[in-house]
Amino acid sequence: MAEATQTQTRPMTEEGDFLQLQAVDHLHFYVGNAKHAMYYWWKGLGFKPVAYSGLETGNRQYASYVLESGKIRIVVSAPYGPSHEMAGHHLTHGDGVKVIALQVRDVEQAHRETTARGGQSAWAPREETDEHGVLRTSAIRAYGEVLHVFVDRSDYEGPFAPTYKALDYAADDAGLAAVDHIVGNVQLGQMEHWVNFYHRVMGFRQLLHFDDKDISTEYSALMSKVMENGNGRIKFPINEPADGKKKSQIEEYLDFYYSPGVQHLALSSGDIIETVTQLKANGIEFLRVPDTYYEMLPERVGDVVKEPLDKINELGILVDRDDEGYLLQIFSRPIQDRPTSFIEVIQRRGSRGFGKGNFKALFEALEAEQNLRGNLDPYGG
Ligand code: FE2
Repeated sequence: MAEATQTQTRPMTEEGDFLQLQAVDHLHFYVGNAKHAMYYWWKGLGFKPVAYSGLETGNRQYASYVLESGKIRIVVSAPYGPSHEMAGHHLTHGDGVKVIALQVRDVEQAHRETTARGGQSAWAPREETDEHGVLRTSAIRAYGEVLHVFVDRSDYEGPFAPTYKALDYAADDAGLAAVDHIVGNVQLGQMEHWVNFYHRVMGFRQLLHFDDKDISTEYSALMSKVMENGNGRIKFPINEPADGKKKSQIEEYLDFYYSPGVQHLALSSGDIIETVTQLKANGIEFLRVPDTYYEMLPERVGDVVKEPLDKINELGILVDRDDEGYLLQIFSRPIQDRPTSFIEVIQRRGSRGFGKGNFKALFEALEAEQNLRGNLDPYGG
């Protein structure tokens, strides 16, 4: 089989959407230097710093900044000493996503339902209280060291959580509006396990799958299944490496992250041309596909795309088209030293896909970079 298969109209679960996830609440990166990471998201990606926790706020364990752009909330934290769990996490993984937090109406119910279905508890329902009210959370474990934290903010009015104080920094908004999807990389043979986890434990359904015929160049093959929650707002593709002549891009990630983890965050924009123009001016680096891609573009998608193709070419934006419409997307280079996490900017014009038509060109560009890093040949060199 080589076609992406859409199973959206046929929920995998008979029990329906028992978890009732509302939205992604935040993504929490553990990093080596929270102030530097904050500056990258602020000046590079146009996020507004809105809250801080650290020594000055009575937090003697770690420094932490919360940044927002549209509906996206990113937290970056670094420990003050070697004994904090963030220090061990950073030592092993480098900078990376520790928490994908999800908004729920009832953290007790979310914890009960997921653990009853085999989810492993990270913490039982708990309340943190300060002068702004009560913040309720619970958490379960996902792939690698990633946690899903369930968050109920309905009785909390503070800037983020207890110990955090509000910041009011001016930011130059780049138009990043919402989390479109969050991709996890897991080890060879583990994709099905995590697809089942999202289905069985979290009530997600499978939206699409891509096999190695869809997603391979001669070398850097992978397989992917896209899981989606009940209201369709939360999409988690899960990738595993597939056999190829050379090292899969997913293996490169696993080699440098030292475990499964979050590969990329796709952030939507209502005007990708404006957004990418600004991000590039800010110094954010993106993958560039070969020029032949743009020579073939008018024939592939030209008659439906409203945006000027010369501008799309100039910025290096990719376009894909399907029965429902089209989408525009672009991928950053890794956002930390290790070739692990990166960012996708995406604008959907009807399409609910993931850019299947771009996989080949994109992965060739990616392999060229992987080769520069000495990580394409499985035997070294
Ligand atoms: Fe993506």
